[in-house]
Amino acid sequence: MSVTDTKPALDDAADAELQREFDDILGAGQRIEPRDWMPQGYRKTLIRQIAQHAHSEIIGMQPEGNWLTRAPSLRRKAILMAKVQDEAGHGLYLYSAAETLGADRGDMTVKLIEGKQKYSSIFNYPTPSYADVGVIGWLVDGAAICNQVPLCRSSYGPYARAMIRVCKEESFHQRQGFELLMTMMRGTEAQREMVQESVDRWWWPALMMFGPPDDQSPNTEQSMAWGIKRHTNDELRQRFVDMSVPQAKILGVTFPDPELAWNDERGAHDFGTPDWDEFMKVVKGDGPCNAERVSNRRAAHEDGAWVREAAAVFAQNRTEQRVSR
Ligand code: 3HC
Repeated sequence: MSVTDTKPALDDAADAELQREFDDILGAGQRIEPRDWMPQGYRKTLIRQIAQHAHSEIIGMQPEGNWLTRAPSLRRKAILMAKVQDEAGHGLYLYSAAETLGADRGDMTVKLIEGKQKYSSIFNYPTPSYADVGVIGWLVDGAAICNQVPLCRSSYGPYARAMIRVCKEESFHQRQGFELLMTMMRGTEAQREMVQESVDRWWWPALMMFGPPDDQSPNTEQSMAWGIKRHTNDELRQRFVDMSVPQAKILGVTFPDPELAWNDERGAHDFGTPDWDEFMKVVKGDGPCNAERVSNRRAAHEDGAWVREAAAVFAQNRTEQRVSR
């Protein structure tokens, strides 16, 4: 499907000219900016993806946040605090990018709480073990890096620019997780078992982060044609598997996939099939922690209402003071 196949029925030459300009910008590998004309479908797809990306960052603070008060040392607590705060910042960058498309932050938050907008399936899994903090950094943020680095070349300017800063911080997130696990793997047998148990729980959900298989992805083809996505779900999943296997060897852990093996002909690793029924169940809201994550987000939104109201009144008063001068 080319960028032009999706043109809405344009009712006059002016619109056709605008569509041509849009197609030319994409064709030249340049960026679409907020003030540029864009097809409604392009805008809608960007708001959908960027809002869900932002929601994922904010909800993603909860699983690791669960360990902030129980980190084993001041150093680990400081690192975890910095990481969780980074995720909040990533969410705010992305909500700001969505607002350049005309989306409203409050409206997106309500849609999240009401289940009308999604967030990443990965954050609906529990974190019962401290090793989860390391495995989330290593595998979940590692998967996010695989997915987000190509988004630095997304055709929509504000999204691509937000990703550049996010990716710099994401690499710190992945390294701190890997270093935490290396420390545990050099510890006691019990710590090594704790790490392996955590890897066994997170490996398959991490593969599901990249979305359904390409032949079951309704959005990929069009998003690729518009340059919003630069790779398909399966391409990025494969890249993540190939990146993770040598890292696991260095750590001394294994992945729970008997089909995982290097394929010389493909120049890549073969691996098993994620449980897509589980994926759909979690995406539909029936994962281990969906209710808890959304309920926590709703409570935070309600508890913060007075701050938003106070800020709005303050801003209104300032405006009235300026006008009355
Ligand atoms: N969790 C929840 N929903 C998912 C999903 C997942 N892991 N993967 C796909 N879906 C949803 C899609 O949103 C879509 O539903 P919708 O049409 O109602 O929005 C449906 O499943 C079909 O999937 P598609 O592959 O057709 O959808 P996309 O083309 O949007 O691809 C995506 C899905 C690859 C996640 C893409 O949206 C994307 O690249 N998003 C930006 C990156 C992102 O959101 N990452 C989430 C994690 S953020 C993170 O990890 C933070 C880090 O700091 C830890």
